[in-house]
Amino acid sequence: VRRLLITGASGLLGGCLLRRAARLAGWEPVGTARTARGNLVAMPLEEPETVRALITDGGFESVVHCAALRSPEACRAEPDRARAVNAAGSVAVADAARRAGARLLYVSTDYVFDGEDPPYDESAEPQPINLYGETKLAGERAARPVPGGLIVRIPALYRLDLADDRNWVAQLANDLGAGRPLPLDAETARYYTLAEDVAAALLWLLDRGESGIVHLSAEERSTKADFARAVARALGHDPARITDAPPAADGAPRPRDSHLDPARYRALGGPALRGHSEVLPELARRD
Ligand SMILES: NC(=O)c1ccc[n+]([C@@H]2O[C@H](COP(=O)([O-])OP(=O)(O)OC[C@H]3O[C@@H](n4cnc5c(N)ncnc54)[C@H](OP(=O)(O)O)[C@@H]3O)[C@@H](O)[C@H]2O)c1
Repeated sequence: VRRLLITGASGLLGGCLLRRAARLAGWEPVGTARTARGNLVAMPLEEPETVRALITDGGFESVVHCAALRSPEACRAEPDRARAVNAAGSVAVADAARRAGARLLYVSTDYVFDGEDPPYDESAEPQPINLYGETKLAGERAARPVPGGLIVRIPALYRLDLADDRNWVAQLANDLGAGRPLPLDAETARYYTLAEDVAAALLWLLDRGESGIVHLSAEERSTKADFARAVARALGHDPARITDAPPAADGAPRPRDSHLDPARYRALGGPALRGHSEVLPELARRD
């Protein structure tokens, strides 16, 4: 069996990865979070010694580094913490993986691009426009020199699980259920991708031993407002409650259209990254 360390396993993506790897034959996954809970091990990224000890002594074949401070607003509000977690924390993970001879898969973001010249393939030059993107790019730079390392950039994720409070669709379902009017950004392009599809793709890439940079993205273009209307329809709510608005005035700057071109992944022939029109009708069947 191949021992696999998944950081951020209490999170939206790390949780999907941990569940999926645990179901697959051949993998023995161990999940970490900032604090220990359930079957998760504590690995605070601000503590390089803890990171090093856990990774060097763990006998891991691979490390998937999902943990991050992922909200651009949270990074703006706490810049020191963003740098400590996303940048310095990733340096600690990458150093430890290299010392341990483990492969590293670093999960990055479409927000390393400025969004002015889409679509972006793997050779495009990153140019982040917010601190979140800057600190994630610093994590990429730490991951790059690890032999056999893989950097995977992904766009906005969602799940169908309405009980997962890290899932924007669950928060949206709550707001729709409460009957509140919802003005949402109808300008910024988004390519919502199902977290479970990304988890399947990541394990597939790991299994094949891919290295370098790979972009993963569903190809259906949307906006927050359009996607929310599709969620409303799938859940039987009135989509007219969602109105078109400009990007939130108090939000961190976001790339206008950071469309990731997943051509390399498509050519490799990995599991499908489905558009939301194909996925969201499943919400109705679950309800
Ligand atoms: N979600 C998206 O739409 C999206 C889009 C593009 C890229 N990404 C990238 O995908 C990865 C996974 O994102 P996600 O959506 O799964 O994030 P998430 O749901 O916000 O989960 C974040 C994870 O990171 C852990 N974490 C945060 N601060 C930590 C610290 N100081 N020390 C150790 N662990 C810490 C959290 O642990 P606790 O629960 O203990 O706090 C949690 O497990 C991230 O690298 C993110 O940048 C996400």
